[in-house]
Amino acid sequence: MIKLLHRLEKHGQRLDMTAQIPDDPDANVSADVPDWTREDVRRFWDPAPKLLRSIRRYQAARQRGGAIGALASKYWVLVHWVWSLVTQSELHLHCRIDGGLRLPHPTGIIVHPDCVIGPNCMLFHQVTLSGAVKVGGHVDIGAGAKILGPLTIGDHARIGANAVVTRDVPAGATAVGIPARIISGALTSH
Ligand SMILES: CC(C)(COP(=O)(O)OP(=O)(O)OC[C@H]1O[C@@H](n2cnc3c(N)ncnc32)[C@H](O)[C@@H]1OP(=O)(O)O)[C@@H](O)C(=O)NCCC(=O)NCCS
Repeated sequence: MIKLLHRLEKHGQRLDMTAQIPDDPDANVSADVPDWTREDVRRFWDPAPKLLRSIRRYQAARQRGGAIGALASKYWVLVHWVWSLVTQSELHLHCRIDGGLRLPHPTGIIVHPDCVIGPNCMLFHQVTLSGAVKVGGHVDIGAGAKILGPLTIGDHARIGANAVVTRDVPAGATAVGIPARIISGALTSH
């Protein structure tokens, strides 16, 4: 311990024993304003942001229209195909994904074309959004969770790993288990 303190001092760092544990970085994530930096491509081999970028660019090209738009959209379909193959994921080119989606381990993620995903969400590996699932803003969905729509997940909700969600999840709630039950808040009926 003493050695560690000395080493920290040597490197010009001060140990402030009164310092608070930093706030949870997730605490201030917006459910409305997309944080696009969450989708930044950081290196050449960066499958998740590159998969998302192919969807964004494809949709922009389609919106642009004309010959250039048509050509560009064909290119992005190809890029999307490559990253879908790499990640073994199916995020449909036409589904509506608001900005700031994080895919920390992008494998085996299936998102139905009718899904709508709000800003700043996070999907872990093996997540399935089946049918018309409306995911609010800043929703974290744990590994292996299956969300069987049509249903709505409210802002800031959390879905536990391997949960099977068959009913709406209210804003701010945490749902776990099969079928999913709320461990904070209450499931709403259809
Ligand atoms: C759902 C989750 C967000 C809840 O976290 P939390 O608020 O810290 O909840 P706790 O760990 O205090 O657990 C509360 C209760 O829910 C249960 N629980 C938590 N996660 C569960 C899950 N995925 N499935 C079933 N029950 C779960 C706990 O056993 C505990 O039950 P108890 O009160 O009867 O003891 C978290 O457990 C989770 O599943 N996160 C997903 C993380 C993930 O997928 N990571 C992948 C990393 S590679």
